[in-house]
Amino acid sequence: MTSYTIEFVGTGETITCTDKETILSRCLEEGIAQEYSCRVGMCLACSAEIVEGEVTQPAARGLTEQEAENYALTCMARPQSDLKLDRGKYPPSIEGDLADGTNDGAVADD
Ligand code: FES
Repeated sequence: MTSYTIEFVGTGETITCTDKETILSRCLEEGIAQEYSCRVGMCLACSAEIVEGEVTQPAARGLTEQEAENYALTCMARPQSDLKLDRGKYPPSIEGDLADGTNDGAVADD
């Protein structure tokens, strides 16, 4: 088990997280206000942009393969290196829906 440092951009918050824990679980333990809802990798509420570092998140079904390179679903993601994450950043595929109000919370079946 390896422990990594996770820094949240713009907040000054830093936590440690092992490669066996999800980032969301550590945020909740540390009292960090990371948003979440489903906790099963589908709703994207817990999304964060990966500014630096790598995660593993094979169960992040709400993200395309390409999105998973740049975004972490913190309820599923486990660190593979030290990380810098920007919380509350969502993949472009849903940003448009959020901006124009057409996101109904439904998840595509692809
Ligand atoms: S809480 Fe729904 S995808 Fe993480």
